[in-house]
Amino acid sequence: MNATRDFDVLGLGVVAVDELLYVNDYPAAGEKVRVNRREPQCGGLTGTALVAAARLGSRCGYVGTLGDDEASRAVAACFDREGIDVAHAVRRPDARPGRSTIIVDARRKTRTVFSHVEGHFGPDPDRPGGDVIRRTAVLLVDHHGMAGTLRAARIARDAGVGVVADFERDPGGVFGELLALIDHLVLPERFARELTGAAATEEACRRLWSPDRRAVVVTCGDQGCWYCDSHSATRPEHLPALAVEVVDSTGCGDVFHGAYCTGLAEGMTLGERLRLASATAALKATVPGGQSGIPTRRSVEAFLARQA
Ligand SMILES: Nc1ncnc2c1ncn2[C@@H]1O[C@H](COP(=O)(O)OP(=O)(O)O)[C@@H](O)[C@H]1O
Ligand SMILES: [Mg+2]
Repeated sequence: MNATRDFDVLGLGVVAVDELLYVNDYPAAGEKVRVNRREPQCGGLTGTALVAAARLGSRCGYVGTLGDDEASRAVAACFDREGIDVAHAVRRPDARPGRSTIIVDARRKTRTVFSHVEGHFGPDPDRPGGDVIRRTAVLLVDHHGMAGTLRAARIARDAGVGVVADFERDPGGVFGELLALIDHLVLPERFARELTGAAATEEACRRLWSPDRRAVVVTCGDQGCWYCDSHSATRPEHLPALAVEVVDSTGCGDVFHGAYCTGLAEGMTLGERLRLASATAALKATVPGGQSGIPTRRSVEAFLARQA
């Protein structure tokens, strides 16, 4: 943590209000199925990552856009409860958080996401001011709102702020330029393979590396992750996932990113960051729900102390 910075982690990407529906078995098309439990929760890649970082003790802020609708108010209230600063969030009357419906299949332990967006979605192209971006140790971005994301990533890199990215798809436009600017590329394996054309995850990790980056991490769910940095660029290494009783893996990737950002802001090595991220994400998987299941720092440390 750097005393001259006001924030450890600023999030620029997407926030959402999700409805989680818990079913015994995900239905075939046209079938009727009983829902055991329905639960509204705040979500979105960046939103959930920020909550994870905040629960681990990081000073977090959200600098994407919020509107004046009910979902925006719900997101702001959720951030407020978690101690995440929204004073620098960009307010636009047309901004709307994402609205997703997530079906959690209790037996197969899958989650199926139906995501819906309308209005302005993602960061503003010209805000927040560069002074705000320069006040954090880490900036977390995702694949929504390319113009604003590229601008903010440039300001961050020029100021020596670590840029961590979670991309799930290539939205086109200036994505290629943005990709080149990312210090810490932390991608899910499906997209890492799609982006590189590699058949194996290890090879995708190798192809994503460039000497301009600090680290590449490719996550593979219960198979853990592959990673490399300047020491292992041509030979990515594998970190197995921590064994847990999985109940609901909703948001594991987002939580992994948030914990990675916390570790980076605290000056941890890549190995230490991945250990923290894997443990936080694994513990999340043992509890139903998205953000509600994110563990505290104390429980993550107790869990890590129990590992061999
Ligand atoms: N079933 C699981 N058991 C333990 N850890 C998990 C499990 N699922 C995910 N994780 C952890 O979360 C990380 C990210 O999960 P992943 O499914 O790859 O991301 P996403 O949710 O974005 O698709 C994994 O690398 C792993 O550390
Ligand atoms: Mg993800």
